[in-house]
Amino acid sequence: MSITSVPFITLNRFENGFRENFLGGVANLFEKTQFVGGPIVGEMEAELSKVTKAKYAIGCANGTDAIQIALRAVGVEKNDRVLIPDMTFWATFEAVVNVGANPVTVDVHRETCHWDLETFKKAVHEFKPKAAIMVHLYGWASPDTLEIRKFAKDNNVLLIEDGAQCFGTEIKGESILGSALISTTSFYPAKVLGASGDAGAVFTNDEELAKRTRILINHGRTDHYSHGMIGWNSRIGAYESLFLKLSLDHIEARLESRRNAVKYYAEALQGLPFKPVLAASHVKENGYCAVGMVDPALRPALIETLKKANIGFGTIYPGAMSLQSGAVGHLAGKIDNGNAHYISQAVLNLPCFAYITKEELEYVCQTVRNHFKA
Ligand SMILES: Cc1ncc(COP(=O)(O)O)c(C=O)c1O
Repeated sequence: MSITSVPFITLNRFENGFRENFLGGVANLFEKTQFVGGPIVGEMEAELSKVTKAKYAIGCANGTDAIQIALRAVGVEKNDRVLIPDMTFWATFEAVVNVGANPVTVDVHRETCHWDLETFKKAVHEFKPKAAIMVHLYGWASPDTLEIRKFAKDNNVLLIEDGAQCFGTEIKGESILGSALISTTSFYPAKVLGASGDAGAVFTNDEELAKRTRILINHGRTDHYSHGMIGWNSRIGAYESLFLKLSLDHIEARLESRRNAVKYYAEALQGLPFKPVLAASHVKENGYCAVGMVDPALRPALIETLKKANIGFGTIYPGAMSLQSGAVGHLAGKIDNGNAHYISQAVLNLPCFAYITKEELEYVCQTVRNHFKA
């Protein structure tokens, strides 16, 4: 059957038997009326901990809560300054404001699309923040992750890592989520490890941070009716936990399929004005996103061609954080070298999801190649 369309993302390619296992498991939880909490949450967290190599993996309601909880767990308080990248999803900005702190946006590197050590150092010296949130976008990681971690530690900046997009990503052979001071992820269904609804997690190797995190996600509870902190109700659901636990059995195959897709684009689309970009060589990406850059003046016509060919696409993200209208009144400062804005105008993401077929990839590549031949 010849291909006539490819979605940007699809959520319906599951392994044989996955659906039956999940629905059977849901029936079982239903019979036991285990809706929130219960053994399934602990079992899923133990698997998460094994896969990420984080000593503690704590499930919560979503990836935005996870950042807020991590900020509070490390001790961020009202009016503290927190650095965030100017190129991220809005949730990173929101999380800082929602805990009463003040976000400072720091530009990313034009080529790596992530923070670089020099700009990070400059921001720390200029703004003297209490904390910073390094975001690992596109399933990559900042090439300077290890150096930024060290600099933050040496300068008493509490570093949180927003890994909503980097489940499975490694730097120099180490799991990003498992080697941070504290990291977070999102299990929004479209993520590399998605759940059957909203969910997220916090990861750390620090016992005290793990303890605070557990208290914060459950109404600041120190006992059933004793509350030692103002927290949230950010508990993870049982059905979501079951879905995640079953998905973790297949995570290696899903990662491999995604990684192969981004490699396929990189090889098949060489020498064109649209340039596929991969993570730095010492970063093993997870294939969350297929990223390419094109001269902003050429992007609208390429988008039109993709639309005509029924190919889904993304522009992740179409605007810098500091330029969002919602940032007005909250931004406590910024370092703006124009890079986040440039990337937002030049980026184009091609279809990428687990178990995308070779035929689908080739249909997309053929369409892009023909566009530039015409
Ligand atoms: C970088 C980043 N941070 C935070 C989030 C928020 O996660 P959630 O949608 O689960 O709240 C996302 C999700 O899209 C994200 O991509």
